[in-house]
Amino acid sequence: MNTKTGIDLQHAVDVLSAGGLVAIPTETVYGLAANALDVRATLRIFEAKKRPSFDPLIVHLHDAAAMAQYASAIPAGAELLALAFWPGPLTLVLPRKDIIPDVITSGLPTVGLRVPRHPLTLSLLRQLPFPLAAPSANPFGYISPTTAQHVADQLGDAVDYILDGGPCSVGVESTIVGFEEECPVVYRLGGLTIEDIRKVVPSVRIRLSASSNPVAPGMLDSHYAPRKPLFLGDLHALSVKYKDRKTGVLTFSGIGELERTPVQTEILSHAGDLFEAAAGLFAALRRLDAGPAEVLLAETVPDQSIGLAINDRLRRAVHR
Ligand code: TXA
Ligand code: MG
Repeated sequence: MNTKTGIDLQHAVDVLSAGGLVAIPTETVYGLAANALDVRATLRIFEAKKRPSFDPLIVHLHDAAAMAQYASAIPAGAELLALAFWPGPLTLVLPRKDIIPDVITSGLPTVGLRVPRHPLTLSLLRQLPFPLAAPSANPFGYISPTTAQHVADQLGDAVDYILDGGPCSVGVESTIVGFEEECPVVYRLGGLTIEDIRKVVPSVRIRLSASSNPVAPGMLDSHYAPRKPLFLGDLHALSVKYKDRKTGVLTFSGIGELERTPVQTEILSHAGDLFEAAAGLFAALRRLDAGPAEVLLAETVPDQSIGLAINDRLRRAVHR
């Protein structure tokens, strides 16, 4: 890694204050951050990521109290969720105040707000007089980064500084919750489980956006995708189908007998722990994409807890 990567908070403050881009660690994935109140700085994010302008950015705050500066109304459920889970892998979509520039929200009347749970980034946010707009720090459509090296590999030239906070502990993006007539609705499955959200707002519904009619325009069907074709299903059946190819296999806790030995195998959690699997998911996908396999075969994990978010990401990574 080069001199662009480090833990110099003052340098990060200086770069951001001058309208530059800093990659920041969070508990979910690394973000590509800029001053959220500076239109020119935020436009650089879209440019660096090759991100379409219809995909809105999440605004990162240092604490829940700052929410009222950027949201024009805060439903009771949002207040409860923020209290229970911030700092943490939860994004709240709320009616926005005018101080939030249009580029951030893609012109939507709402803004996504989140307080990330990473000590370095929280101290950075506390030292800044503005919040940080930050999407995941990957080229648009590719697998999200969970280490500083992942960011350097792909956006090294486009960022001014990479704050290295080590590997992300959660490993999948935040759960996004919006409100319709004050009722909480999950738009994106993520690091905060539905089971946990339900304990605080039992009425929560799940309505994942489709690309045909996106409430959250970023919820495009094809996302998080490796460059190699990835197929999802029963590993044995897939290995029969692709027996003439060099395969790389992504499994939850281990593989049984396959038709042909894979050239690369990634086991997400030998212990069968879904949180461990989530934390290692994107790094494993990147290793498979960089490795010797021609075709990637993957299986879903149990459809519960953070497994729902893992399966969502795997389905979006499927070759089409
Ligand atoms: O964990 C995360 O959320 C990471 C870290 C860096 O915080 N960020 C992240 O950002 O995943 P990004 O840009 O990759 O995904 C943000 C998504 C958008 O694609 C969109 O789906 C949703 O958040 N979003 C943002 N603002 C929204 C709004 N006003 N209404 C609906 N959805 C919104
Ligand atoms: Mg993203």
